[in-house]
Formats: sequence, structure tokens, C-alpha cells
Amino acid sequence: MGIFRTKSIAEYQSDAAESHLKRAMGSLDVTLLGIGVIVGTGIFVLTGVAAAKYAGPALILSFLMASITCGFVSMAYSELASMIPVAGSAYAYAYTSVGEFLAWLVGWNLVLEYSVGASAVAGGWSAYVTGLLKSAGVTLPAEWTMVPADGGVVNLPAILITLFLTFLLVRGVKESVTVNKVLVGVKLLAIFIFLFLAGPSVNPANWEPFMPFGFSGVSAGAAVIFFAYLGVDSIATAAEETKNPAHDMPTGIIGSLMICTLLYIAVTAVMTGNVPYTQLDNAEPVAFVLRELGYRFGSAVVGTGAIAGLTTVLLVMMYAQTRAFFAMSRDGLIPKSVCKIHPKYATPHRITILVGVGVAAISGFTPINVVAEMCSVGTLFAFIISSIGVMMMRHKYPEAKRPFRCPAVYVMGTLSILSCAYIMYNLSSMTWERFWVWSAIGCLIYFVYGYRHSRENTKQ
Ligand code: ALA
Repeated sequence: MGIFRTKSIAEYQSDAAESHLKRAMGSLDVTLLGIGVIVGTGIFVLTGVAAAKYAGPALILSFLMASITCGFVSMAYSELASMIPVAGSAYAYAYTSVGEFLAWLVGWNLVLEYSVGASAVAGGWSAYVTGLLKSAGVTLPAEWTMVPADGGVVNLPAILITLFLTFLLVRGVKESVTVNKVLVGVKLLAIFIFLFLAGPSVNPANWEPFMPFGFSGVSAGAAVIFFAYLGVDSIATAAEETKNPAHDMPTGIIGSLMICTLLYIAVTAVMTGNVPYTQLDNAEPVAFVLRELGYRFGSAVVGTGAIAGLTTVLLVMMYAQTRAFFAMSRDGLIPKSVCKIHPKYATPHRITILVGVGVAAISGFTPINVVAEMCSVGTLFAFIISSIGVMMMRHKYPEAKRPFRCPAVYVMGTLSILSCAYIMYNLSSMTWERFWVWSAIGCLIYFVYGYRHSRENTKQ
């Protein structure tokens, strides 16, 4: 059956042969890289809605649940990434293990992670910019800063930042390690200022009731804020660039997961401890809480930090999307012409513009929590397939070189699948419907185009 044809590790390695990566990163670098890609909209935006509508102060437990799931997943990813160090991540792992059709579906669902995720980040960016301008006395008209579902016409700032970053990506601006470190510093500073200013005024009475929506609320909350951990899979792709993958990968991944989880829990505890959770249903809860406490300047500083942090997450997500498409077009599953490289800028300009316009259109008209959930469902699907993949690869390629080996792979892999499935199960039925529709469109494209044009097919 052609749909189960696989691509061998050797093929991937020859594809990647030109790029000799330098083994320069240690565990601290991996940790910082992780914090750089993980901390963003999840903490600065979604915590508010998730606490108000789903979990209440027990959102802390939702973060723990999501974090443990990501811990299992990232062990599997680290092994796969160190074995198959190529662009495309989960898509490429699936292609070598479970075969072309599922690989295509994973790639198709990565669009949800990257493009739809980027739209959510752009929406969060817009909320913080609007809030910051407002506290400086400039009120932008609500109809131009809100999506129709929230009573506006279009979210213009979200569209503008997306198009601006698209322009930068076409010109070949990539995030450098130094820029990433600076921005991680700015993001962390913003969070610490928040904790420092709002921490002392926590009133434990606001934590009562702790679990207003019961355990199901905690699980639903975990599904919504799962978005806060997206990006954890992309740390694994650095496996080939670490000095000692067997040590640096687990330390860096677990380290960044733990730091992010602690930050998320601390922010949630302080947020829900200062303002009754019912009032947190807004798109810039961190700055909002500080304004409520009278720290207008503090709110502005934290808002600025959040904007800087969100800008980099947005840039990285759009960049990752173009790379994923690039990997798929190299395999012939989408037309090669779309991923043509610009003669002057040496970037895949067509696909970058296409992605940019798509992200801008979604962010301009769709509410953040809707897009964030869509994004989580696609990512969780990719996580499950990769967890199956890591176990299959142990059978299929027992001798392959694995710079990082996932400990107790069958236990980890199974726990990873089960925990992802549980979080998926808790997503809203609307999200599931959209996921099926999206996947059905993906199947159609595969059978109409990808199946026949696949490089593996033309070889046979
Ligand atoms: N984890 C990233 C964020 O929360 C995607 O923005």
C-alpha cells in the first residue's frame, strides 16, 4: 500500500548532509532556548480566560497536568530529533516510522500548531499593544482592535504585526541566539516585575473556592492552556547541535519545562490571588491585574516585556511553518514551486508570504481562545504519532545511532500517548469538529495531489 511507504533514515541523512551543524550548545543554552520558544501567549494571555471560564484558581493544577504530559512527549522527541536531525520534525519522524499518509496528516496538522498558533500569538500581541497605548492615554477604536466575535470589525494591530514580520522573514531575518537570549531576559524580567509588584498583595480569600469547576474544569483548563507549552517540541530539534546530547537534551528540556511550569504556577497564583478569578476574562490579564492594583507604570513595563516576548514567539512560529512546508515540498507532497527560493534573499518567499497572509487573515477575525484550542488539537495529534513513532523505530532500526536515548521508551511512549489523548479528550466538541474538517481537507489534498506527486511514488 503506497500510503504506508516510508522514507528511510539514510534518505533523510543524505538530504541533510549539506548542513553540518556545530555542536556548540550546553544544557543552559538548551534551557534558555526552551524558555525562549515556550513562554508567550499562554502565560500572558490565556491564563485569564482559562481561570475565569474553566479552572478557577485550580488552573495551577492544569499547568502541572500539561507540564507532565510535555515531559513525556519531549523525551520521545529528543530521541527522534537526535536520530533524524532534519527540518520538518514530527512530519519527518512520522515519514520514517508510520508512513507517508500519516506523515502528511501530521504535517497538515502542524499547520494548526504553527500558523493557527501564530494567529493566537498575534491576537495576544494586539491586546497588549492596545492595553499599553490605552494606559498612555491613546485609546484605539474598539472596532478596529477586536475580532467580530468580540464585538469589533477586525483586529488590525494583529494583522499589521503579522505582515511586518512576514516582510522581515522574506528578507531573511532570522532570530539569532543572542537576540533570543536578550528577549528571554526581557520576558523573564516582565514576569518577575509582575510577581514582585503583585505578590505581596495576594489575598488568599480569592483562592476560595479553589476548584469552582471541579476536576473536569482542571482538565478542560489543561486543554486550553496546553498552548502555553507549545514550542517544547522545537527544543528537541536542537539535539544535533548540543555538545553532549545524552546529557544536555534531558537536562535542558526538563530544566526549561520546570522553570516555565514554576513561572506559570507563580503567575497564576498571584493573578487569581489578587483579583477574583471571575474578573480575569480578558486578553491581557497580567497587565490588567497590575492596573487594578494601581501600578500603572508597572503595568506599562510588564506590557512592553510581554509585547517583546510575543513578537519573538510569533516570528519563530511563522518561521517554523515555512520550514515544515519546505520539508513537505521537498518530498513532493506539496508543489515545489510554492517553496521556491528567492534569488536575492535566499528565503522561500512565496510560502512565507502565503503563510503570512493566512496568519494575518485568521488573527484579524478569530478569537484567541478558539484558535489556541485548534492549535493544541493539531499539536497533540502530532505528539501522539511521534510517540508511536519512537517505539516503532526501536523495532525498525534497532541499530541506528541514537545520540539521545529515551529512558524506558515503551513506558514513556505509552504514558505520552495516554496523557496527550486525555488532554485531547478534554478539548471542546467544537474544536474536535474543526479538527475533523481540517483533517478531511488534508486527506483530500493528499489523495488528489500528494499521493501521486510524492517523491517516493515517482521513485517506485
Ligand atoms: N507556548 C507559546 C505561547 O504560549 C506558543 O505563546
